[in-house]
Amino acid sequence: MKILVVGSGGREHAIIRKLMQSPKCEKIYCTPGNGGIAADGAECFNVGATDIPGVVALAKQVAADLVVVAPDDPLVLGMVDALQAEGFRTFGPKKAAAIIEGSKVFSKNLMKKYNIPTAGYEVFHDSASAIEYVKKQNTYPAVIKADGLALGKGVILAQNEEEAVTAIKEMIDDKKFGESSATIVVEEYLTGPEVSVLAFTDGKTVKPMISSMDHKRAYDNDEGLNTGGMGTVSPNPYYTGEVAEQCMKEIFLPTVNAMNAEGRTFEGCLYFGLMITPNGPKVIEYNCRFGDPETQVVLPMLDSDLLEIMLAICDHKLSDIEIKWHTGACTCVVMASGGYPLSYPKGLEITGVNKNGQVEGAEVFHAGTKLSEGKFLTNGGRVLGVTCKGNTLQEAINLSYQAVKKISFENAHYRRDIGQRALKALFDPSQFEYKQDLEDYLEENGIYIRQ
Ligand code: AMP
Ligand code: GLY
Repeated sequence: MKILVVGSGGREHAIIRKLMQSPKCEKIYCTPGNGGIAADGAECFNVGATDIPGVVALAKQVAADLVVVAPDDPLVLGMVDALQAEGFRTFGPKKAAAIIEGSKVFSKNLMKKYNIPTAGYEVFHDSASAIEYVKKQNTYPAVIKADGLALGKGVILAQNEEEAVTAIKEMIDDKKFGESSATIVVEEYLTGPEVSVLAFTDGKTVKPMISSMDHKRAYDNDEGLNTGGMGTVSPNPYYTGEVAEQCMKEIFLPTVNAMNAEGRTFEGCLYFGLMITPNGPKVIEYNCRFGDPETQVVLPMLDSDLLEIMLAICDHKLSDIEIKWHTGACTCVVMASGGYPLSYPKGLEITGVNKNGQVEGAEVFHAGTKLSEGKFLTNGGRVLGVTCKGNTLQEAINLSYQAVKKISFENAHYRRDIGQRALKALFDPSQFEYKQDLEDYLEENGIYIRQ
């Protein structure tokens, strides 16, 4: 089969590498793609990921048997509808279903209507009412969210009244995110560990993938600005069998059923951003697509054929497919450009990788890279996702960092503590008879215990 993948990040690279393992996969095309995707033999094009007529024309040009639309914005804009109207088998939700990510007001109202656990909220269209509400509530942090897509920057956790008022004014009055922030949601602040669960669904059956944990802040110890994600681990130790069962019953099935009841059947990958609160798991956000960088640790753990799964979803036969997962763990450490998520240079040479942009013993998923005269150059904020599987989480972490050390580019920035929070959750001090053994273990494993 000839497959066209739309997108250009580490997530798309991970999807493409997995699709290439399928015996049915003949050829992969990608637009716009990146250096690592091209080096893996996918033919890349210059059509932008949100150019709907351009992508439809490209699908015709390459006679695609399957099109996979990976990023949020083309999904929310209706790229799947346009491709399906031309007869292309397409993986991804239609516009009517992608709204689950495209509008927070929609998703919050959906959860309220169908009793799906989430943070309490109010919706505002004008800044004066929002400010009055926040002042009256007088509880901080106050969670302020833009209704629409905002490149992952539309959530502000305001620590005091001043920050809340500034955020509200910037969003509604100054239109910081254009129409996306003309309407805002002010939400109850929840606490607890976060878990990402991606789920395959054809609208009838929902099959959750292995769980994962993102690390959103730029610096170690969860300090610094929010980013698109600085690393991930899978599985997420907070997602126990019991939590998984509760999520299936109270969140996953009710969400898929709610979308059906609304006439917005969701087909594709539905992402559940969850918080395991003292009152049980609650939805923080839905995404209408594979997460980035969650996909970079989830798909390497998949022991089944991704292409078969995608085709089964297109044909509404997901219930016929058995999906298997590897045991062990997987870690992805993101190497970013110095300065990210603010401003950063591009075009710096990446050294230490082979001619395919890989290093031995790891899978290097390229995000912001380009291939120029046989050299890989940086071309974005998040540059590479260095990924390793291990028999244990500790082994996966060690292997990923060993691989990271082999790669360099000027001012490369990466977190040193990817997976430490998960390790701490797994860690059982009762197994140590002597305090000294425990301290040695912590030192050897580089585990710091945060109080
Ligand atoms: P999002 O961009 O929607 O993934 O949100 C970014 C981050 O903000 C989430 O990963 C959470 O850490 C945090 N967040 C969002 N909503 C809430 C909430 N209601 N309570 C506490 N933290 C939240
Ligand atoms: N890693 C979070 C997201 O994909 O939105």
